[in-house]
Amino acid sequence: MKDKLEVLQNKIAEAKLGGGLDRIEKQHEKGKLTAYERIHYLMDEGSFEEVGMLVTHRSVDFGMEKQQFYGDGVVTGYGTINGRLVYVFAQDFTIFGGSLSETHAEKICKIMDLAMKNGAPVIGLNDSGGARIQEGVKSLGGYADIFYRNVLASGVVPQISAIMGPCAGGAVYSPAITDFTIMVEGTSYMFVTGPNVVKTVTNEAVTSEELGGASAHSTKSGVTHLTSANDIDCIEKIKKLLSYIPQNCEDEAPKLPYEMGDEIREQLADIVPENANQPYDIREVIEGSMDDNSFFEIHENYAENIVVGFARLAGRSIGIVANQPTNLAGVLDVNSSKKGARFVRFCDCFNIPLLVLVDVPGFLPGTDQEWNGIIVNGAKLLYAFSEATVPRVTLITRKAYGGAYDVMNSKHIGADLNFAWPTAEIAVMGAKGASEIIFRKEIKKADDPMAILAEKEAEYAEKFANPYSATARGFVDEVIHPKDTRRKLIKAFAMLENKSDQLPRKKHGNIPL
Ligand code: HXC
Repeated sequence: MKDKLEVLQNKIAEAKLGGGLDRIEKQHEKGKLTAYERIHYLMDEGSFEEVGMLVTHRSVDFGMEKQQFYGDGVVTGYGTINGRLVYVFAQDFTIFGGSLSETHAEKICKIMDLAMKNGAPVIGLNDSGGARIQEGVKSLGGYADIFYRNVLASGVVPQISAIMGPCAGGAVYSPAITDFTIMVEGTSYMFVTGPNVVKTVTNEAVTSEELGGASAHSTKSGVTHLTSANDIDCIEKIKKLLSYIPQNCEDEAPKLPYEMGDEIREQLADIVPENANQPYDIREVIEGSMDDNSFFEIHENYAENIVVGFARLAGRSIGIVANQPTNLAGVLDVNSSKKGARFVRFCDCFNIPLLVLVDVPGFLPGTDQEWNGIIVNGAKLLYAFSEATVPRVTLITRKAYGGAYDVMNSKHIGADLNFAWPTAEIAVMGAKGASEIIFRKEIKKADDPMAILAEKEAEYAEKFANPYSATARGFVDEVIHPKDTRRKLIKAFAMLENKSDQLPRKKHGNIPL
């Protein structure tokens, strides 16, 4: 027995060494932690149980049979984060560059299957040179096995992808299907085709960082939802994200204890400027009405004209979608519509109630927007809200104009409770534009056209630039004093806590993708 235990201990020690000390050192020199170190910081102390530690590849081509490492380039298993079960895989760059072989893929699939059956999130820590070149199509098949599971798991358990090194070629499609992607600045990149191919095909000279680094994907493409300064920061963000979301689609997000106390927030009354064309930061409204320091913004630097993120209200996790007047006056465009829609659908999959803050002058005009499909992209947001069955509350702080009024979680598309501040303006368009159209003849004929325009503008504003016509029809349930916002929202979401709603029976809808 003693000998046999020794054999086992030696194997475990070898496995923990990954590709060897020199390769571990190289990993550290690049500013990256190893797979085991990442798992150590991610999971509750002593909670991680490894699955498949002694797996080795089956490849015999190119002398591979002589190069065997336990684990085959990925550490897989389960454990807890803040006491809650999660499944994790961490690619080990020290073994064949973390490249994905048939057996490497099988290990990932195994824990994904367990996660689905047991209803807990899957966290992937990606750091890989892509398909194991020596294995050919077996490796490609392994990727597809993972992609297929990513799709089946979508909406069943939350899936989070951290990109902590290279992630290139078709390998990017697993993170793309998962719910959230977090990239580490400076040490990670994602692209379908790398700088060399780009140079050959398009003659563009671009570095990996410029093409697919954290900065490019958090600002230009929106591929990553979050960025982090280093591996530890990335791991902390994964933990924070998990704290707002439930274990699976049947579960509810963790609720923190809360005692009513400071519900009246006088400062909310000072945020919207007197001049309706002056911007203000919608985050002030969010932070002023949510639990202290609870707002966790997603996609912060992408499509900044809409703000999305999680927060806690009286200890309960909610998802927030808000127009941002400081950026393009909070207008809806292609990217902000896609960003909002994706977030709404995540919240709806996982029973997270939605709060929508509206200050929107409409959709962004122009050839760029029309030719990039603002029609179908705006429709994504409309579709996502309409289909969401979670509790949905809207607050119109200022403008709610045109089609954007309908889209931004209006009563007509199924919102449960709609509030407005007295500063709300709910109309087909702004008073000036409206007057120029409907009083065009009168203005043209007048001796002093500017004076008539001003008069008509005031008349129109008096009639429509307020929340009361909408309230009279029940499209807005209540006009509230800003200082009461927090109290009203807490009561509204508490009232909606047991909301039960069903969509008509269907296989699935056909969102305008
Ligand atoms: C096998 C690989 C590998 C791979 C790296 N290695 N990538 N082994 N298959 N895909 C090995 C290297 O040979 C090396 O082994 C070790 O990992 C570390 O690699 P280095 O090159 O020394 O590291 P670094 O300088 O940091 O460069 C990292 C890298 C580079 C940029 C990722 O390794 C690279 O370009 N690799 C190939 C990338 C690639 O073309 N992959 C296939 C993409 S197609 P030793 O023994 O020397 O330490 C694809 C399709 C997926 O992935 C399709 C899915 C549908």
